[in-house]
Amino acid sequence: MPLLETVDLSKSFGGLRAISNLNINIEAGSIHGLIGPNGSGKSTFFNLVTGVYQPDPGSKIIFNGHDITKSASHDIGALGIARTFQLLRLFSEMTVLQNLMVGYHTHVPYGFMSTIFNNSAVVKKDAETKSEMMELLELIGMADYADMPASELSGGQRRLVALGRAMAMRPKLLMLDEPAAGLSPVNVDNLLSIVMALKQRFGLTVLIVEHILKVVMETCDTVTVLDYGEKIGEGSPDAVKDDHAVIEAYLGQEMDDDEVRKAFNS
Ligand SMILES: Nc1ncnc2c1ncn2[C@@H]1O[C@H](COP(=O)(O)OP(=O)(O)O)[C@@H](O)[C@H]1O
Ligand SMILES: [Mg+2]
Repeated sequence: MPLLETVDLSKSFGGLRAISNLNINIEAGSIHGLIGPNGSGKSTFFNLVTGVYQPDPGSKIIFNGHDITKSASHDIGALGIARTFQLLRLFSEMTVLQNLMVGYHTHVPYGFMSTIFNNSAVVKKDAETKSEMMELLELIGMADYADMPASELSGGQRRLVALGRAMAMRPKLLMLDEPAAGLSPVNVDNLLSIVMALKQRFGLTVLIVEHILKVVMETCDTVTVLDYGEKIGEGSPDAVKDDHAVIEAYLGQEMDDDEVRKAFNS
């Protein structure tokens, strides 16, 4: 059984069909890539799965056996889906550690009453949470920066903290929207090895949207290709990069097949 399954998933914005009858299965334990030209619907897919947008009638989204088609974002988060955003959204005035704590509290809430009374159970729980978050910071290589305000971090470090904050929600499915955008090649490699380590450590399933095709080719077990909101290809990275329809859609008519293949390989 797939961990995430969409059936006839569609989303229209006025007359524009951003996602069209999309059937995607994401297998538990896999790294699944979602690629496609700009405007092909990748971020919209993320927003549908995480409850930011309501899909069109007739759509279905099943996560881990639960029908989440109409669920609210925080319920979807509590079931085990966490994401990062294409544009970073850290709390810049908070420290690195506090940013992770916020991620944790958003999706693993205390009971309402115990929060109000700030009782000893909560204080104990807070200490446990803090050590769990410190362990996460170790895993992403940011433990030394725990007390630094997020505003003082470099771009690459901010990406890592955004990843840490998503992981603080203890997800089963981690969804990454262009995690490597703007990173130097060294930082891209570092980020990828951290994602692999997190996957190993927590038994994660990962869905990754990425523009840098090399990243997709090197890390994904399965790739789905979108064009104008429709699935035009799917399979192993090797199969997808040799698919003519994919090649045409992906980089348009400006390049011949060999040039496109080169883009997938470097
Ligand atoms: N909130 C919105 N309102 C109207 N149109 C939108 C909205 N979000 C996305 N779109 C449109 O849907 C299409 C897919 O966009 P998007 O999912 O952001 O593509 P991608 O992430 O693949 O670049 C685009 O044509 C975009 O303009
Ligand atoms: Mg996008």
